[in-house]
Amino acid sequence: MGSNKQYFDEDPSVQSQESSIDLILPDLTTTLLTDRGVFSSQKIDAGTKFLLLNAPNPKESTRYALDLGCGYGAIARVLNHRSPLTEVWATDINKRALSLAKENLGNFGINVSHPDSIPDDISFDLIWSNPPIRIGKKPLQNLLEKWLKRLTLKGEAILVVQKHLGADSLASWLAGKNYGVERLMSKSGYRLLKVIRK
Ligand SMILES: C[S@@+](CC[C@H](N)C(=O)[O-])C[C@H]1O[C@@H](n2cnc3c(N)ncnc32)[C@H](O)[C@@H]1O
Repeated sequence: MGSNKQYFDEDPSVQSQESSIDLILPDLTTTLLTDRGVFSSQKIDAGTKFLLLNAPNPKESTRYALDLGCGYGAIARVLNHRSPLTEVWATDINKRALSLAKENLGNFGINVSHPDSIPDDISFDLIWSNPPIRIGKKPLQNLLEKWLKRLTLKGEAILVVQKHLGADSLASWLAGKNYGVERLMSKSGYRLLKVIRK
């Protein structure tokens, strides 16, 4: 899946070929199992790295955090590393991604789950996401509405979105839905957005 056009397929048809990649950050170096048929299978995505390098550290009070659209689990792994007492959840619809994430995250006590299996009574203090922009505007809006509703009153979501893939119109749409939206950083074609409930 060279161009990764179908990374959000629930059941990738491309033949599996597992490999490993290194995630190298100032505070964590680790190796992650990956495979064809999942997003950015050959290297950590530049947008994901941008989020991981620039997101504010989780607050000490963070009880529940979510990596929305976790792929093979890089973001959840870092959330757990930076906030070891937080209960971290990682979710995706791509079955291969979920199975890789279980391999990569299971030893750290991170919950890897299909979105439908996350208990309804959990509210998240923090969501970090490199969201699946390519599923289309309306499905993306529905996805974000569904999960932003599950933020606690003081919760926040940190999203990385490419400028040329509509970061600014997404920010305006969120503001129109009465979320507080702050552009934390804008660099190299990426925007880092903080979204809060108002
Ligand atoms: C841009 S990728 C980011 C993957 C991973 N977080 C990373 O940084 O490498 C977005 C992910 O969202 C997943 N996705 C698509 N639709 C979804 C949905 N309805 N619920 C949860 N995840 C979804 C895709 O399968 C994909 O793995």
